[in-house]
Amino acid sequence: MTTLIAFESSADETSVAIVKDGRTVLSNAVATQINSHQRFGGIVPEVASRHHLEWITKTLDIALADADIAVEDIDAVAVTYGPGLVGSLLVGLMGAKTFALAHDLPLIPVNHLAGHIAAANFNQPIIYPALALMVSGGHTELVLMNHANDFQILGETFDDAAGESYDKVGRLLDLPYPAGKAIDEMAQKGQVTIAFPQAMAKEAGYNFSFSGLKSAVINQVHNAEQRDETINPEDLAASFQAAVIKALVERTGRALRDFPVKSFVLAGGVAANSGLRSALAELLEDFPETEFIPVPKQYTGDNAAMIGAAGYWNFQDGIFADLDLNTNPGLDF
Ligand code: KG4
Ligand code: ZN
Repeated sequence: MTTLIAFESSADETSVAIVKDGRTVLSNAVATQINSHQRFGGIVPEVASRHHLEWITKTLDIALADADIAVEDIDAVAVTYGPGLVGSLLVGLMGAKTFALAHDLPLIPVNHLAGHIAAANFNQPIIYPALALMVSGGHTELVLMNHANDFQILGETFDDAAGESYDKVGRLLDLPYPAGKAIDEMAQKGQVTIAFPQAMAKEAGYNFSFSGLKSAVINQVHNAEQRDETINPEDLAASFQAAVIKALVERTGRALRDFPVKSFVLAGGVAANSGLRSALAELLEDFPETEFIPVPKQYTGDNAAMIGAAGYWNFQDGIFADLDLNTNPGLDF
């Protein structure tokens, strides 16, 4: 049995969790600072760092109390060292190092993106080889995995990430940041009335592009304003969401056909999207040999439990770091 304490502070959530054997969450304390960033329409790095500083020890106390275990029962400390905002990452990293030093525990470096994917193990254990679609505010990637610590990027976005396009369209619709959840809810009430063009529709491969779609939505709204017409915002949300989902499902289908895998993982903040989950579930009906393993909705956003899940595999593979571990803000797989 391996029990890890995990620290996550890469963006605007300060989180500490305690996870057993990479699958059982004993506690997962998450402090979100979204309210502080909303009036700026995005994360303000300086504000984020200050919040992390304020919350890191509080979330640590809550995680320890909720898990109801003795510190002596913890085997190692897992921490996100990238990608993310450097000033934010540093706070979690310092917290993790201090905890490791104080309790003489090994330190495990964890890639935030690997963490998002590993959270699928809270649903059911990932079966390899696996294909993962990682869709968040900063990343949109199709990744082939032969085991837990092996990542081959098949495709990625050339410009905006899927979540980023939700947030930018949200700004246009005057929705508070981040807008993914609100647009998702609006889309469910609307009709697809506008057929937005698909970027790179004729290209083979597994890459994505979402900035053209964002511009198309902006143009649609501006043109309607000039003609004094009104567009139903719910229909606009439904049409935009349909275009995002179509792009994600199409590339995923292509990858699944080209690389037969035992499981398909849907991960990252956008994985909470109801339309995306059901569209992919439908796609997977054509692949009976492939198990669909979406990350449970409560673990799709940033949290430390997912870092504990990924850290477990690093622990198994003997991947540890010294106390001079630095952040890597631009880290990819
Ligand atoms: O993974 P995450 O919490 O943070 C990053 O590492 O980026 O992802 C946040 C992103 C935001 O862009 C947010 O708008 C989007 O996930 N998001 C959604 C939904 N819930 C969150 N996008 C679409 N539909 C949702 N239900
Ligand atoms: Zn994330």
